[in-house]
Amino acid sequence: MTTQSQGPRPSIFITGAASGIGRATAKLFANRGWFIGATDVSAAGLDTLRQESGADNIWTSALDVTDKNQLETTLGAFVSAAGGRLDVMFNNAGIGESGWFEDVPYGAALRVVQTNFIGVLNGAYAALPFLKTTPKSLMISTSSSSATYGMPRIAVYAATKFAVKGLTEALSAEWMRHGVRVADVLPGLIDTAILRSTPNRSGDAAARNDAELYANAPKSGPFRLIPPEQVAETVWAAYHGDQIHWYVPKEIGRIDQLKAFAPKMVRSRIMKAMPQLQKSDPPKS
Ligand code: NAI
Repeated sequence: MTTQSQGPRPSIFITGAASGIGRATAKLFANRGWFIGATDVSAAGLDTLRQESGADNIWTSALDVTDKNQLETTLGAFVSAAGGRLDVMFNNAGIGESGWFEDVPYGAALRVVQTNFIGVLNGAYAALPFLKTTPKSLMISTSSSSATYGMPRIAVYAATKFAVKGLTEALSAEWMRHGVRVADVLPGLIDTAILRSTPNRSGDAAARNDAELYANAPKSGPFRLIPPEQVAETVWAAYHGDQIHWYVPKEIGRIDQLKAFAPKMVRSRIMKAMPQLQKSDPPKS
């Protein structure tokens, strides 16, 4: 844990900051004069981030978001270093598991729940006391496009992202009485390590390798591959705006609108886009 004190610049605490969306957000806010609390289970990734962005701008600490006590202690230490303010809490750390629901081992599914939802819950409990005492503060969490219509083959992952979205909506109302804003960001397909590190548990023909996934990523439309810097810009816009849900790209929001009155139509579009969904198992003898 680095110990330098850099207040009273505006400050943002980011989980999952060593890679992808969290890393891009840390760099963008640092470039714009903010003081960054960058945390992750990967200490090595944080070291290179600090070298790239400057130790005066980036405070780092190893942190596993599933550990509530560790999160509270780490956030408290960061807020002290930041001169007592927490302008943005960014609950971003996440992991994936893919495959048919029944092929994903129960333990692996629980790890997704622990990281993607319990981690956000831990962040909310830890951050509220500091957010309450910082004017215009915001808690923003990374949900997903899979929290528009629940996505097959990442069922539990999608369910955790719905949970994040639900918590966001509820707290965006509750925390008005504390003067704390609450929002989430719902990215489509972002070009980060998670696309490569998410194991396919079904091992079937639908398990595309990385090269194939990239080659087949749509070149246009809501699920085109987008650089993580675009999500970072959206987090910046969220701090300076007043929406609850921030879709990246914006067209992802249309799925939510369509799903509200035609959920079966959305499901049938998803099934057409994923032909393996339509194959039934051979009859059991
Ligand atoms: P990434 O794999 O590049 O970054 C995720 C970071 O979270 C990694 O540095 C990892 O070490 C860290 N992490 C994992 N478990 C942790 C834990 N228990 N405690 C602390 N840190 C932990 O992936 P990416 O894409 O940047 O992911 C960030 C968030 O964006 C995740 O919540 C992910 O579910 C979400 N997301 C990503 C999309 C994509 O297409 N890349 C689309 C929609 C949402």
